[in-house]
Parts: sequence; C-alpha cells; structure tokens
Amino acid sequence: MISNVNNILLEIKDKCSIVDVIGSFIKLKRTGQNYQGLCPFHVEKTPSFSVNEKKGLYHCFGCGVGGDVINFIMRYQNVDFLEALEMLATKYGINLDKSNDSLNNYKNLYNIHNSFAKLAYETLYSKVGVKALEYLQTRGLNKNLIEMFMLGYISHEQDFSKVLAQYDTKTIKDSGIFIIKNGSYVSRFNGRIIIPIRNKIGKVIAFSGRSIGGEQPKYINSPETSIFKKREILFNMDKAKADTNLLFLVEGYFDVMALYNNGFTPAVCTMGTSLSSDHVKILKNYFKEVLLVFDGDNAGRKAAIRALDIFIQGDFIPYVTYLPDNEDPDSFLQKKGPLAFAEYINRKDDLLLSIVKSQYLNARNNINERVSIIEKFKKFLEDIKNPYRRSLYIKEISKICEIDESFLLKTIELNKSKPIITRKSSGILRYICEKDFLGSLFELSEDLVQSLLIDLDENYFNDDDMKKIYKKIIENLKKGININDLVRDNEVGDIVSSIRMNSDDKQDYYITAIKNKNKLIYNYLNKKKKKILLALNSAINEEERKSILESLNQLISKQKKLYIHLLEE
Ligand code: GTP
Ligand code: MN
Repeated sequence: MISNVNNILLEIKDKCSIVDVIGSFIKLKRTGQNYQGLCPFHVEKTPSFSVNEKKGLYHCFGCGVGGDVINFIMRYQNVDFLEALEMLATKYGINLDKSNDSLNNYKNLYNIHNSFAKLAYETLYSKVGVKALEYLQTRGLNKNLIEMFMLGYISHEQDFSKVLAQYDTKTIKDSGIFIIKNGSYVSRFNGRIIIPIRNKIGKVIAFSGRSIGGEQPKYINSPETSIFKKREILFNMDKAKADTNLLFLVEGYFDVMALYNNGFTPAVCTMGTSLSSDHVKILKNYFKEVLLVFDGDNAGRKAAIRALDIFIQGDFIPYVTYLPDNEDPDSFLQKKGPLAFAEYINRKDDLLLSIVKSQYLNARNNINERVSIIEKFKKFLEDIKNPYRRSLYIKEISKICEIDESFLLKTIELNKSKPIITRKSSGILRYICEKDFLGSLFELSEDLVQSLLIDLDENYFNDDDMKKIYKKIIENLKKGININDLVRDNEVGDIVSSIRMNSDDKQDYYITAIKNKNKLIYNYLNKKKKKILLALNSAINEEERKSILESLNQLISKQKKLYIHLLEE
C-alpha cells in the first residue's frame, strides 16, 4: 500500500517543477540558486520565502515553514495529503485511478461514510424517524440546522443492504461503522441520532451516535481509522475555519449546534476527549482568538486548568468564560436566550491570568500557598515562547501576585538548550554536528544511511529536535518509507526542510556525515566519561574502583583515536 503511494509521489515529483507549481500561486524571482517571493504563510514586506528546484523544497526564513511540493499544496489550499496528490496528478496528467489500491481504499472510506450519512438523513425523515425528529425539535434544532450538520437517525431495524452492496468487505470493515451481529453487519449506531464528523475539508470521516431514550452510553463514537484520528479532529472545523471571528471552543456537539442556532459562530468541540497538542496547533493555524466556554462548576474550572497547560505548550493563550453552575452553552441558550449569553462573552478573561487570579485570591492569607502558586506560574511563564507575550504576562502576573516585576523576571529561567533552529541562523544551534550529521543523511542513498546509523542510538543526540528527527528516520527506515518524506512530517517537517534548504549542495555529503558522526561519538563519550567519574567517586571498594578505572581507560583511548581524526580535518 505504501509503496503504491510512493510510486505516485515519485512520478509527481519527477514530472512537476516545484518552482512552476508555487510560482502559479505567488510571484517568484530568481536569486542565484533559489527563487524568492513573499511568504504566503505569514505577513511580510520583504521576501524571505525561497524555493529550490533542485532539492524540490521550499522554506521561509521568516516564519520557519518548509516542505516539498505536496506539502505546499496541502498548506496553501488547506487540503489533505490525498487531495494534494490528486490536484497535482490532474495538473500533470498522471493517472491515479484503478491501478492504485491505496488511493482507492481512501476514496472508498470517504464514500461509505457519505453513503451512511445520507441513509441516516433519509431515515430521520421517514416513518421510523419520527421519534428522533421530535427529539431534535425538543432540543431546538429545526430543519435548517439538521441540514447544516447533516444529522440523521439509524433505526434498530435498519436495512443496510443498499449501502453494503456498494462496497467491498475491506472498506466495510475498515470504516468502523459496522459490527458483525449474528453473522451479518449492523451499524454500531443503531437506534441513535447520527452526528456526522467531518474533517477540515468537509468530508465525513466518522460518526457520533447519541441515544434518545436515555440508554447508556449517551454517545457512541466511531473507532479510530486511517481517516479518523481523534486527537486531530475538532467537530465542525470545516465550517468554522471559514469564519475569522472569535472562535467558541465548547465541550459538546449540541453546544456547537446551539451556538450556530443562535448566531454565535464559529464554534467547535473535541470528540469528548480532552484537548490535545494537535488541536491547539490547528486552532493556532486558523484562529487569532479562541474563547473557551466552560460550565462554572468545579469540573469546568478543572477542565480550564488542564486546557491551560496544553495551550501554553502550544504557545497560544485563549480567553475563557464560565457559565453558571451546571449549564452548558446549549442548556443556557435554551433557558436564557442569546442576549444573556452575550453578557457572558463580554465577561471573557485571559485564560492564564484568570487562573492566576482565582488561585492567588484563594491563597491570599497563606504565604506558603502563595509561594507555591508563584512557583507554579513561573514555570508556565518559562514555557511561553514568544518573548513579547512572555514579557507582557510577566508584567500582569507580577501585579496579580503582588511581587516586583523585575524580581520575577530575574527568577525566570529560559530554556536555553532548545534553540529555534527553524530560523535563519544555524549558528545558534548548540549541537551543530547533530544537525549536520542528520542533514547529510537526507542526501545519501538508503544503504549508506543504514551503514552510517548502524552503531548509533538516540542517546547520541542532545538536542530535542534532532533526537526526534533521528527517531523518525529510524522509524521510516524500519517501515520502508523514504526518509525524505519527513519534509512533510507534522512535527519535524519544517525543521527538516530548513536543514536541507540550508545545506550546501556542492559538498560531499558522505564525508560530512562521517566527520560529524565522529564529533557525535566524541561528545557522547564525554558524557559517558562524566558518568564514570561520578561512579568512581562512589565506588565502595578497591575492586570496583579498578574495574571502573579500566573502563575509563578504554573510553579515553577511544576518544584519543577519534580526537586525532577530528584534528586531521
Ligand atoms: P447532551 O446531553 O447531548 O447535551 O450532551 P452534553 O454535551 O451536554 O453532555 P456532556 O457534557 O455529558 O458531554 C460533552 C461531550 O462529551 C459530548 O458532546 C460527547 O462528545 C462526550 N460524551 C458525553 N457522554 C459520552 C459518552 O457516553 N460516550 C462518549 N464516547 N462520549 C461522551
Ligand atoms: Mn448539553
């Protein structure tokens, strides 16, 4: 399956020019080896976006994004991998059909979800759907809303034969929609309201089924499949992303629908799971401002604290507002209406500051507690990556906690070992040899890469990003996936592209790899030496001392040999 997509990828990369493709969307100008233009992914006045035809990569020195032609289309057109493949294949006359099983599998999965959603919608408006339709009406949802969210119903006696007849067993099984009961397929959502879950380009990829008669569980979701990953999905994201207003992030599907029903848009919710770092990344990409709406009870406050952690890690801090106890947006809007809800929006507060405020107020008379609160939030401040944002929060938090701003500032320890290597200068990277070593691997043939990696492991890498890239390279090699696909990786794609774009392609990459590998090993032995010396200090008898000294000697002689190599360069 993978090799099939790989072949198409190679064909596309072979036939299409990345300069042509990107040049058809933005204006590019030749400057030496590269082409430059204004970056379409951030606002800038002087061009720092560059495209390299030979390497087949783009990279922005301003905002750090980068990747290959497919990943450019995915980003620029907001489409998924397959859609990008399709667009390029169509443009360059490459035939994706029939011959390609894995693409067809995906298409079938999308189609079966679409068929099921249609069946559920029709059933809702049929005789057997009367009770379900009534239920939706009691929850304030009219035909418009039902259509907007493509809601439906699947009965206990539902006949699936028409849907099943259209698809092969693999698709039926892989879809996660059906379970086998008494030897035949029935949906796992029988007797429930069907809420289709769409991906960010609007394709149905999963379902949630809500019970209507009080049966437990209240909701049943599709299992994860190759097209449905809970930690990346926000319900209603496809509609929400078209809207640039303040985004409402709420807890339930019916909350999202109630907000749309009352003109409060855009809104999304998770699949009932807590927020993931992937969710935050997505939100940050599409929205300037996010407002979390929580129930004002204890559970809501706790959920807000959990969310804060994830948002801070993602360097994005939303607003928060708390509704009265035991109300969610849906129940509140039903009871009090939109005007009352608007008041709660006006009361919104910065999530970080609001949590500092409430915790600090509670601890007002207790110095010990106050100290521990300050220490906790100091950690949060250290995690804020944008220096201006950090500085503003330091100012506000020192006011709330009644301590001197410059004093708080002095105690903040910024994590200096994690340089931003996606930015222009690679000189600020502390472990240049790690970057140069890994960077050269991407330019070498797979057997050379294998041989270069044979005696290393992740402990040889000190920089967190480099360690991640190393692990992903190993993973890809194991699975037989080209390591160059990492330029499209969600986590490390931008960094890998930047490393590749910045490497001088006149060098001998194999020699670079060997040289830097020696440095890696040298550094590693140094680390090990420190550990051995520590062990020596705590040796309990002469025998142990001797054996430790012996291993120390061996290590030092290894290092000496390497050192001579390093000097020769
Ligand atoms: P309604 O009663 O339909 O208004 O749901 P709610 O959103 O008010 O309920 P709740 O706050 O309990 O649930 C919030 C979200 O959690 C829902 O939208 C679901 O995504 C998820 N959830 C709630 N109950 C269940 C359950 O029984 N199973 C699963 N898988 N998810 C649930
Ligand atoms: Mn509710």
